Amino acid sequence: RDEEEHEEEDKKLRSSEDEDSGEESDLSDEVVQKTDSEDLQVLIEEKVEERKEHVEEEKKSENVEMQKKDECKPAVFIPVDRLPEIQAVRLQLPVLAEEQMIMEAVRENECVVLCGETGSGKTTQVPQFLYEAGYASAGGIIGVTEPRRVAAISMSHRVATEMNLPDRVVSYQIRYEGNVTENTKIKFMTDGVLLKEIQKDFLLKKYSVVIIDEAHERSVYTDILIGLLSRIVPLRNKKGLPMKLIIMSATLRVEDFTENKKLFRTPPPVIKVEARQFAVTVHFNKRTPLDDYTGEAFRKICKIHRMLPTGGILVFLTGQAEVHSVCRRLRKAFPYRPNREHTDSMETEDGKKSKRTRKKKNVSLPKISLDNYSALPVDEGDEDRQAGIDEEDDEGSDLELELGDHPDAGQVALCAEEKSDPSIPLYVLPLYSLLAPEQQAKVFRPPPPGARLCVVATNVAETSLTIPGIKYVVDCGRVKMRFYDRVTGVSSFKVTWISQASANQRAGRAGRTEPGHCYRLYSSAVFGDFSLFSEAEITRRPVDDLVLQMKDLNIEKVVNFPFPTAPSGDALIAAEKLLISLRALEEPPRRGRFGELERAGLSCPITPLGRAMAAFPVSPRYAKMLALGRQHGCMAYIITIVAAMTVREIFLNYDRPAGSEEENSKMAGKKARSAQMRRVWAGQGQSLLLGDLMVLLGAVGACEFGGCTPQFCEDNGLRFKAMLEIRRLRGQLTNAVNAVCSEAGVYLDNKLAPPTEAQVLCLRQLVLAGLGDHVARRVQAEELLDPKWRNAYKTPLLDDPVFIHPSSALHKTLPEFVVYQEIMETTKMYMRGVCAVQAEWIPKLLPEYCHFSAPEENPAPWFCPLIGRVRCHQQSTFYRVGWKLPSIEMD
Ligand code: CDP
Ligand code: MG
Repeated sequence: RDEEEHEEEDKKLRSSEDEDSGEESDLSDEVVQKTDSEDLQVLIEEKVEERKEHVEEEKKSENVEMQKKDECKPAVFIPVDRLPEIQAVRLQLPVLAEEQMIMEAVRENECVVLCGETGSGKTTQVPQFLYEAGYASAGGIIGVTEPRRVAAISMSHRVATEMNLPDRVVSYQIRYEGNVTENTKIKFMTDGVLLKEIQKDFLLKKYSVVIIDEAHERSVYTDILIGLLSRIVPLRNKKGLPMKLIIMSATLRVEDFTENKKLFRTPPPVIKVEARQFAVTVHFNKRTPLDDYTGEAFRKICKIHRMLPTGGILVFLTGQAEVHSVCRRLRKAFPYRPNREHTDSMETEDGKKSKRTRKKKNVSLPKISLDNYSALPVDEGDEDRQAGIDEEDDEGSDLELELGDHPDAGQVALCAEEKSDPSIPLYVLPLYSLLAPEQQAKVFRPPPPGARLCVVATNVAETSLTIPGIKYVVDCGRVKMRFYDRVTGVSSFKVTWISQASANQRAGRAGRTEPGHCYRLYSSAVFGDFSLFSEAEITRRPVDDLVLQMKDLNIEKVVNFPFPTAPSGDALIAAEKLLISLRALEEPPRRGRFGELERAGLSCPITPLGRAMAAFPVSPRYAKMLALGRQHGCMAYIITIVAAMTVREIFLNYDRPAGSEEENSKMAGKKARSAQMRRVWAGQGQSLLLGDLMVLLGAVGACEFGGCTPQFCEDNGLRFKAMLEIRRLRGQLTNAVNAVCSEAGVYLDNKLAPPTEAQVLCLRQLVLAGLGDHVARRVQAEELLDPKWRNAYKTPLLDDPVFIHPSSALHKTLPEFVVYQEIMETTKMYMRGVCAVQAEWIPKLLPEYCHFSAPEENPAPWFCPLIGRVRCHQQSTFYRVGWKLPSIEMD
């Protein structure tokens, strides 16, 4: 029946597509000429046929090799020379007990779903089973995708160590780096890396097995990969190039993969690994602190450490800033001194504040029972409350910078007050995505003898990594997520409640080696209100980049793609509209412009420009700038601007409280110097109009001339790690540009001379061409009805005023028209990355956003429905103004 239903579905897809797009597309020779639309499977087959001609020879030899491998597979056993102590640890892992069952299922099925508790050994062991069974012995690679860079790196190291193989055999590849060689047999990578590879080689011929790890995380790329592989794997097998797919997941909602008829015709078998999980006693807070959960977490850790038997503590917080702040406070409260006795008196260190807090505490904290504790007094002025909602876990931060002392006397005193047994030191470690690998690795090593391990982590520790020896979990119940408003395009980082599934997963981390305890910093009533499962990421973010990538894979009708969870129709339409306006997709048959799009069922084919854009590893708006950037020698500049816009927080933040007066004045000095440097980089005249993007360009240029050293960055208010990342990204984008367009001939010179005036003009137009839907117009004096609109800008989609941030280069200039990189909502709606544009460019570069009217009908020559009427003084000559400017090639 399933088979029938599936066929039925397929037929429907095909017939609806036939109705929808009858038009012949007008693509250039390098692009596949397609007249009929087919369903994904047919598309893939077509693509394969087409490739076949070019690579017939290559394939033949591979084919033979692969078949040879398949024939001899059962007999093959590749011995691995593991160290005895490693082997002993491995044998403890629950997944080892299931090896035979797993390997049988893999042999007999194209796709297998493997689920088991985090820590049961899926990630580290399954690639080894496959290796030993010969899946990597005939030239095929065992590929493993991870949604997080941390996991890709640390797992490849771990597996290499376990197998006693060098990293050129067990390797990793993430966005900027990797150690993959010709000898690589097991390759850990981020899911984005594999998606890019599919674009180059649709059949993933170099892989014999693909493992999609952490599928329960439902990252966008993971979801798409599963959709694509659900078609690629059967096709490979049909073509005699056997391939296996293994989807690995924690025990969460596997039905999305197995019972989704669009995905797999026959539901893949599910193998469950029964992990030895000890009982975890869950303790709820009576009260749920709404603000000060980091303070609450800190106090809880102190109590656990002082009152409960040995065993590691794992704390879940939401972001880097919080992690470091709590680490700092813990280190201060329980200084870890390996060779000295722990007789440190907080009173002498923290003086007055300490006494004050103690007084308060004596009243409310007599003998706390951990199972039944009530609310603790919350100290006012806790800096954590302001701790960055503006930083994502994934963004780099300088560990060394953040480890400095911090005046947290009040909170510390709380801890020091109850004279606990100070003989056990607390060994405090931070853990988050972008922490340097050496730092991360520390959590896997046993703590120093006699010390208690305390890992303060973001939700990276929820499923990706398993830390040995954890007995106590402290769960703040929150996670930091980027929220994106589909309609307005405003994004913000918000801390939100986790789901029940996540909460239980976090609790489970406590019962790995013995019975454990989980302290939830929220009440059971609040827990009851949590959603059951976390939403898949694909439903929460814009999908324009994905739609472009899929179109580049010739999947025209994105709505029909077998997503494990489909993004909303709205999001798909928004993405398609944006891509059409960027001219990455062909316009649908006229008649009411976008209105038609909904009816056309989102099946606009990709344009040659779109293909060029899809080759760049940046979002379509930036890709458009790169695709056009060849003119007037602007390429190197636009690459730099795009790279810098993609990297967050390139400037050091001097706004945190420093402490002593001397430190404060030092900080103020640095801040002034940084502001001054930004003014220098912004320049004057034409360059100033490039605004914040000129500042980025100037900063990168200056930094490269200065040799890009940590000292230079420190002296000039730049974040060293961000500058290194920009440099890497510039290299990568330069290669991509040269690959897409051989005549571009850009070579990467790290040093950049300042752009000429003509170039700046051109750069502003390029930026407008990419960020066309991010135009804002200054509200004019006569329109000013409400004082809240003073110095405000009006944007197409927001009813509320938006502003140029005081730190922006254009804060004083207030140009009439600007484009912005994004709007972040903090105290007000602020535009980030602002650049001034000229009204006259808009109808030329972005005609789809304008209505043109005959001059006699309307005194204004054109009207942009998104931003209202635009004053254009050279009414009848704006077109001439338009083409006198450096030309922009649009297609
Ligand atoms: O993938 P899954 O969560 O099922 O487990 P895993 O990541 O393969 O981890 C299996 C075991 O290896 C865990 O108990 C970890 O503590 C341990 N491990 C380790 O000690 N060091 C690493 N770098 C990675 C894992
Ligand atoms: Mg794993």
